[in-house]
Amino acid sequence: MFSLRLLPFTFYLLFTSLFVSNVLSIGINYGTLGNNLPSPKRVAQLLQSTLIDKVKIYDTNPDILEAFSNTGIDLIVAVENENVTNISKSASVAEDWFTKRVSRFLPATSIVVIVVGNEFLTSDDSQLDPSTLVQAIQNIHSVLIQHGLDRKIKVTTPHSMAVLSSSFPPSTSTFASNLLSTMTSILEFLSETGAPFMINAYPYFAFRDNPSQVDLEYALLGNGTAVHDPKGYVYRNMLDAQIDAVRSAINALGFGNRTIDITISESGWPSKSDRGDMAATPNNAKTYNTRLIERGESHKGTPMRPKDSIEIFVFALFNENQKQGSDSERNFGIFNGDGSKVYEIELSCKFCSNDGKKFGFGEKSSSGVKGPSVWCVAKPHADEKMLQAVLDFCCGAGGVDCKDLVDHGACFDPNKLHAHASYAMNGYYQMHGRNYWNCDFKGTGLVTFSDPSYGTCYYPQQ
Ligand SMILES: *[C@@H]1O[C@H](CO)[C@@H](O)[C@H](O)[C@H]1NC(C)=O
Ligand SMILES: *[C@@H]1O[C@H](CO)[C@@H](O)[C@H](O)[C@H]1NC(C)=O
Ligand SMILES: *[C@@H]1O[C@H](CO)[C@@H](O)[C@H](O)[C@H]1NC(C)=O
Ligand SMILES: *[C@@H]1O[C@H](CO)[C@@H](O)[C@H](O)[C@H]1NC(C)=O
Repeated sequence: MFSLRLLPFTFYLLFTSLFVSNVLSIGINYGTLGNNLPSPKRVAQLLQSTLIDKVKIYDTNPDILEAFSNTGIDLIVAVENENVTNISKSASVAEDWFTKRVSRFLPATSIVVIVVGNEFLTSDDSQLDPSTLVQAIQNIHSVLIQHGLDRKIKVTTPHSMAVLSSSFPPSTSTFASNLLSTMTSILEFLSETGAPFMINAYPYFAFRDNPSQVDLEYALLGNGTAVHDPKGYVYRNMLDAQIDAVRSAINALGFGNRTIDITISESGWPSKSDRGDMAATPNNAKTYNTRLIERGESHKGTPMRPKDSIEIFVFALFNENQKQGSDSERNFGIFNGDGSKVYEIELSCKFCSNDGKKFGFGEKSSSGVKGPSVWCVAKPHADEKMLQAVLDFCCGAGGVDCKDLVDHGACFDPNKLHAHASYAMNGYYQMHGRNYWNCDFKGTGLVTFSDPSYGTCYYPQQ
């Protein structure tokens, strides 16, 4: 067999966490405007057994910060809009806010981002002064520098799509003219500090407002009718087009050469609406959010930047029965207040800390793909070092029976790393419920519908 080594246990832990940090990169927004939600402690416990590893909240609720201590889940906390202007006024107000609201929970609670305001520049609240945002961001950042935390905790601010003057065609999009100077300052800050540009993007609203003109499949992150950009990019889903519109607006301000990641700080689809809106159904919500999670896990880029993966925060964890606005606003949740799922969606995670436990507040969730024939193999040009590590892991701590890979075994020939790794990866994938994240292997795995078996070498299949 291809230099299979058995790994000591400590290395197993290290290596498993290597997979965990890669495979799990899905965030969720945890809003709390409901009078029927489970306690933060319960939410934290249960999220630990899912593939969700980042939680974004809208304030610095101390019960939540406390509940997520020592969970391995990263938190994104927020300066509420009403506090932004005050914090912009002086370093000492920022320091005061940080000391009272954040620093006492460190380092037990892993806070990785502070967002300053939410959709602050496009809020219709006349009390908020858009010109104070940049200074507030800088004041919070200065406090972090003083505490030696500026590398660990990034500072940014989530925008709505309304910061763009137009979003179509994507390649010609620009920021609204009244925001150009503020946006330039924000982008300067983000590129200097390595913080992401956050955008809340909802194909749902675009579809709702224009159902006769927008292809539902295009809005639902499916493989919709192709939409052609004049620069040659082809879009088959609206979210990609929205992300590239933001990218173009950033480039138009002269930041095309600077590294600024785009993060989808919110996206989702409601399961219910009161506006006679036919698109807000549990089925569409399930389809959109399932695809959104898959997209986040796939590390896929967009037509304009195929290699730039996009971090995603699903909106939202819970239906929130006390939210203002239309019924759809209260029905973006994957879970009801009582903890039952609004629709079936796969969030379980075999690698997570409470191995075996599933989300769903006591209910059992279904595990993985059943039915169609499907296998996992190594990608054609996968990195050899990684493949060797994957092979060692699967046949060692991963528990795959690799006897067919040893000399004179049925799958020994061809004696090539790629072939042996494929066999081992498939074994692991089949054993662990055939969830797409069980075939990730740090981006080296590929799910396939064609049977890789050959000769007497049989690739098992559940
Ligand atoms: C934040 O806003 C709340 C509510 O308006 C207020 O009680 C609090 O003092 C503010 N804190 C800061 C630092 O501005
Ligand atoms: C501004 O911040 C100070 C210091 O934290 C706080 O005492 C005050 O209440 C805040 N004012 C407002 C209007 O939020
Ligand atoms: C999407 O649809 C087009 C046209 O129907 C097809 O050529 C393409 O292969 C599809 N892509 C995927 C990923 O299914
Ligand atoms: C950005 O990159 C382009 C192409 O590499 C180059 O021509 C241009 O001078 C760069 N601009 C800046 C400001 O660095």
